[in-house]
Amino acid sequence: MRTVAARSVYPEKSGRTSGPQAVHLMPEDTVSSALTPTPVSQPPVATIATLGRHEGQSVTLRGWLYNLRESGKLLFPIFRDGTGTVQGVAHVKSVPPAVFDALKNLTQESSVIVTGKVRADQRAPGGFELDIQDLQVVQRIPESDPYPITLKEHGVDFLQERRHLWIRTPRQSAVLRIRAEIMRAAAEYFDTNGFVRTDPPILTPAACEGTSTLFPVDYFGNPAFLTQSGQLYVEATALALGKVYSFGPTFRAEKSKTRRHLTEFWMVEPEVAFMDLDGLMELAENYLSHIVQSVLKNRAAELETIGRDTAKLVTITPPFPRLRYDEAAAMLNEAHEKGELEQPFQYGNDFGSPDETWLSSQFDRPVMVHRYPADVKAFYMEPDAADPRYALCVDVLAPEGYGEVIGGSQRVSSLELLNQRIEHDHLPKEAFEWYLDLRRYGSVPHAGFGMGIERVVAWICNLDHVRETIPFPRTLHRMCP
Ligand code: 4AD
Ligand code: MG
Repeated sequence: MRTVAARSVYPEKSGRTSGPQAVHLMPEDTVSSALTPTPVSQPPVATIATLGRHEGQSVTLRGWLYNLRESGKLLFPIFRDGTGTVQGVAHVKSVPPAVFDALKNLTQESSVIVTGKVRADQRAPGGFELDIQDLQVVQRIPESDPYPITLKEHGVDFLQERRHLWIRTPRQSAVLRIRAEIMRAAAEYFDTNGFVRTDPPILTPAACEGTSTLFPVDYFGNPAFLTQSGQLYVEATALALGKVYSFGPTFRAEKSKTRRHLTEFWMVEPEVAFMDLDGLMELAENYLSHIVQSVLKNRAAELETIGRDTAKLVTITPPFPRLRYDEAAAMLNEAHEKGELEQPFQYGNDFGSPDETWLSSQFDRPVMVHRYPADVKAFYMEPDAADPRYALCVDVLAPEGYGEVIGGSQRVSSLELLNQRIEHDHLPKEAFEWYLDLRRYGSVPHAGFGMGIERVVAWICNLDHVRETIPFPRTLHRMCP
């Protein structure tokens, strides 16, 4: 067992009494071994999420005071430890007077080490309560400078300015835990299906999705840009390794103020040699289904904490409905005629947010819209051989009005056509010479897509805005904290 000097771990707050106490650190849920026996008197360190393993036993929890209720001689503190919350119970006669007094005067978000006996209680949110036996206050927050986020309602701006603290609330923590599971499952699917993770550079010399949306960087006196997609690079690694994916931050400088746009977001991008559009759509539906089912399986408690209607997620299994762009356009026109959509849909345009919202709310699982008019899509998309006015591309729109979560396509494989497209779009040819090499030397049909993690988190958690899907969101009007 190690003892750590408090001062080296926690910065001291003003006032002598608020300084943290020395803390004995013990690994969680340790099994005692012959070499390092755990003293019998020391209850094991547990986490709130694993209290079920310790029913009827005394355990030590390390965390913070979330709330405190008092009822005569009884105190009902609620503790949180990052894995969940649990209500404690302390009767004036059941704990030493010093413990009762310390608890009674404890302030919200003060840090504590608490020992108590785990008792099953069906009414308790996690199924257990803690009969308190002992309490060590690590740092008490003084009344003169209280924790700013109270349990009352606060405005979004107030909370966003205190995002570093806001993430402690059970709802925000649950969303971040679900995000982590989404990212884990997103990588797991590829790692267990023969894909190799290859990370593209973040500093890039040229645009992939159009120059107007790039963040410029001064690169030793030369212009460079933050990547907006790793696609061109994973096309190269796919032709080297077969099946690859990338997973990292991407940046868009478009001045969008919608609830779906961040300026910095995380994208996962698979790319597969010898894959066509049909294969890509099959990959997309299997992939998204795996992610949703993993969250249902591994984050049930968090989904309950945020009040998610899971019936709407259970149905997310392949196959997903598929619509040609033209069929989707006809549905939108009809909806406009019936007064369900304010604006008429202009054929040939990309779908607007209200169009996507309406379309996606027509199905109980994601809908795959494929074969957009080639003119509205990126230069690298392969035209449909059956009718070259259409691109072999697909956008996957999430249900419940969440809109596009995946965008992808089969890529142009002909050197001649790709050259024409680059010229037509006035792209700097020299910057694309290496990319053209992929068509010069052993070109093959290949396809890939990009999935925005935050859009998926917003959908799975049923959030109004992507700003709650990432620990520290970057949007048009917010860079802090
Ligand atoms: O549709 P996008 O722009 O596609 C590409 O970047 C392709 N190069 C990807 C590829 O084929 N490898 O972006 C892909 C996904 C979108 O479907 C959306 O989920 C997400 O990235 N996305 C954003 N998420 C948050 N904020 C933004 N500003 C986003 N822009 C795109
Ligand atoms: Mg797109």
